[in-house]
Amino acid sequence: MAAVAVSTAALLTLTACGGDAKESGGGEAAQKKVEVFSWWTGPGEADGLKAMREIFAKQNPNFEFFDAAVAGGSGDQARALLSSKLQANQPPDTFQGHAGAELQGYIKGGKLESLNSLYDELKLKDVLPQQLVDQISVEGQIYSVPVNIHRSNVLWYNPSVIKDAGIDGAPATIDEFVTDLEKVKKAGKIPLSIGSQWTVVHLMESVLLGTLGTDAYNQLWAPNADWSSAEVTKALENFKTILSYAGTPQDDWQPAAKQVVDGEAAFNIMGDWAYGYFHNPPDGGLGKESHKDFDWAASPGTDGTFMWLSDSFTLPKGAPNRDGAIAWLKVAASKEGQDAFNPLKGSIPARTDADKSLYQDYLSWSLEEWSKDKLAGSIQHGVVANDAWRSAINDAVGLFQQSQDVAKLQEALVSAAQSNNQ
Ligand code: GAL
Repeated sequence: MAAVAVSTAALLTLTACGGDAKESGGGEAAQKKVEVFSWWTGPGEADGLKAMREIFAKQNPNFEFFDAAVAGGSGDQARALLSSKLQANQPPDTFQGHAGAELQGYIKGGKLESLNSLYDELKLKDVLPQQLVDQISVEGQIYSVPVNIHRSNVLWYNPSVIKDAGIDGAPATIDEFVTDLEKVKKAGKIPLSIGSQWTVVHLMESVLLGTLGTDAYNQLWAPNADWSSAEVTKALENFKTILSYAGTPQDDWQPAAKQVVDGEAAFNIMGDWAYGYFHNPPDGGLGKESHKDFDWAASPGTDGTFMWLSDSFTLPKGAPNRDGAIAWLKVAASKEGQDAFNPLKGSIPARTDADKSLYQDYLSWSLEEWSKDKLAGSIQHGVVANDAWRSAINDAVGLFQQSQDVAKLQEALVSAAQSNNQ
């Protein structure tokens, strides 16, 4: 009996050490995979993820980071695949979901575990803005770990191209913008670069904000908001005018943004992940110099308002490697993780206690604006509209690109709001 008891105890000890085969002399470590789902594969985007992944690897020798990223800016392909994986109850261990309405959709669908105990353990409520925690909570339960704050309403421009077109500095209003687009056209360059369809929705959100103003824009997301107003018509007319100056649509946001730093195009309205791409050293980024190869301003008519979004990581119910997912969330939540990720991603940290000296150049501007601006939420990047609503808006914009019919676009937006904003 005693012999059996001893060997059972020995077996238990061995099993407990099973993940750490190196220490028990078992050769190659039997690392357990942690599947991390995002869409950060492209130039610029992948750099931040890589930096956080290195920290994860150092801190978690028992886990192997498995990059389940699906290519395509703004997660257009990724979000569709994720939704079918979740429907089939085959979640990754953790996935990137935008704070706000998009995440609320996953929560209401019963797809996520609450992270309250992790928040307590890491004292996260003390270091995250309450406004942000509210966006990822339902009935006192918190459902994700925000890793950053991105800004959507940025006008990127090429200083030499605009100078050659006789433009003196970035346009502050929509009217000035249209005048400047015309000047660039006359000078023979692409006035405005665009990428795939989602980048056009991204452009539209900035034009809505710039035309309507912050309060009226924010009102659009309140239940029963009026999308049929004359002000919205005016905003959509502006959108049509601005879009008429767009170059040939590029495959995604990177080639469109690159046309600006290459001096082919004057302007591009894109989120500040473009900064990571422009500024990071090659091969990930383009190694460009700010104020020389590119410059930035608030998108026209939006100065003083930060149109925000936040990338956040989740713990899906039924995650195959739950412990591994929690280990990833701990890195994403940490000061070290956020300070490694964000300077390369072109975003500022969600945590309020990050090392500010790491955020220079564009990023110090963004930090400053975040601390004082009014806030508006991004449409395309999941803050104000849930996924169904966002897709309906995307479809409407896709049809508009062909028809150029403002009345039809507005009707489609009215009906998208009616069916999704109850
Ligand atoms: C956003 C995402 C950003 C960035 C961007 C372009 O939706 O929040 O982190 O990746 O798409 O792909």
